[in-house]
Amino acid sequence: MESNNENFLKYLAQTSTIPLAIEIKKAEGVWLFDSNNKKYLDLISGIAVNNIGHCHPEVINAIQDQIQKHLHVMVYGEFVLEAQVKLAKLIQRTLPEPLNNIYFVNSGSEAIEGAIKLAKRATGKPKIISFDNAYHGSTHGALSMIGDEALKQPFQPLLPEVNKIKFNDFNTLDEIDNKTACVVIETIQGEAGAIVPKPEFMRALRKKCDETQSLLILDEVQCGFGRTGKLWAFEHYSITPDIIVTAKGLGGGLPLGAFISSKEIMDKLSFDPALGHITTFGGNPVSCAAAYATLNVIIKNELYKKAESKERLFRKNLNHPAIKSINGKGLMLAVEFDSFETNKKIIDSLIKKGVITDWFLFAPKCLRIAPPLTISEEQINYACSLIIDTINEEA
Ligand SMILES: Cc1ncc(COP(=O)(O)O)c(C=O)c1O
Repeated sequence: MESNNENFLKYLAQTSTIPLAIEIKKAEGVWLFDSNNKKYLDLISGIAVNNIGHCHPEVINAIQDQIQKHLHVMVYGEFVLEAQVKLAKLIQRTLPEPLNNIYFVNSGSEAIEGAIKLAKRATGKPKIISFDNAYHGSTHGALSMIGDEALKQPFQPLLPEVNKIKFNDFNTLDEIDNKTACVVIETIQGEAGAIVPKPEFMRALRKKCDETQSLLILDEVQCGFGRTGKLWAFEHYSITPDIIVTAKGLGGGLPLGAFISSKEIMDKLSFDPALGHITTFGGNPVSCAAAYATLNVIIKNELYKKAESKERLFRKNLNHPAIKSINGKGLMLAVEFDSFETNKKIIDSLIKKGVITDWFLFAPKCLRIAPPLTISEEQINYACSLIIDTINEEA
């Protein structure tokens, strides 16, 4: 009989020529267990998804409660779903005015699509500005805005009137003009290698958007939900976006995304045309119940605050001449080596030792550290000692 692993390679479409293909049987807290019961410390959380660890008991309870009540019913205004309402209200309490109105979708890419459509509809303008090395997702609109030509080229033509400017470069802000509907930016760039913007740059960007009446869209799909030391990464910069986009960690391990704006702007999706943005499964009640439990755990335990001291512990431990730099904030870190080859050797060897890490799409020299926010100090020390041992062996 063929193994699950063989059937995985045979029946499931692969998105790379080198799939790792470890069969996961169980996941709990910061640990993953494979089919041989080998234990792995998860240092990447399914790429910044499992922010409160795998299968957190409060999330599992919330899912179980919700499935006793109902699964999908319908979401175009016909029915009021308590799971959605409770979550929307809780999220709203964490955000400054005027971010008081939310539309739930299923993923980050879809939230980005909704946000740029909303910006075009609300401003009546055609142009979109995005940044070099940005990643916003894989659908056509999101792909149009990413900062890497090689990924985009085979799928042209993409969206027209998307201009790419330089992250952290004040001079390129002049590209934003009165025809710009929106500027889309990751508050902290993920796939670029956890690149943190200068606070003055974010404030200058906000000012330029105000001057040109362009909407500022912050993509917090990867950096949101407590990962960087604040609940929302934009809180580091004393600015408020016009639209915020979230997904990944939002659903606590279930698929959920959202774009959030003011009621005034969001209302534009309800007329001329009606149903300006819709999706069958957006705000699935089970995902919303899981998200509500997740957000409560983050708030109750102030996990975002602890991300800062855990960052300090990683930085203190990861001290080695082969490490060129450590970028990022909180538990969104990128450890830079001299080459992709060195990084890949370290990643492969760590996996053998039972630690899961990864590189970044646009920063192949950098090792990704994005563990669940619940990782303990002891587990950080353990992970770092294995990383340092591995660097000594491979670098
Ligand atoms: C910053 C950012 N935006 C958007 C997305 C797309 O999210 P999804 O993969 O859920 O479509 C990602 C995914 O990695 C991301 O990192």
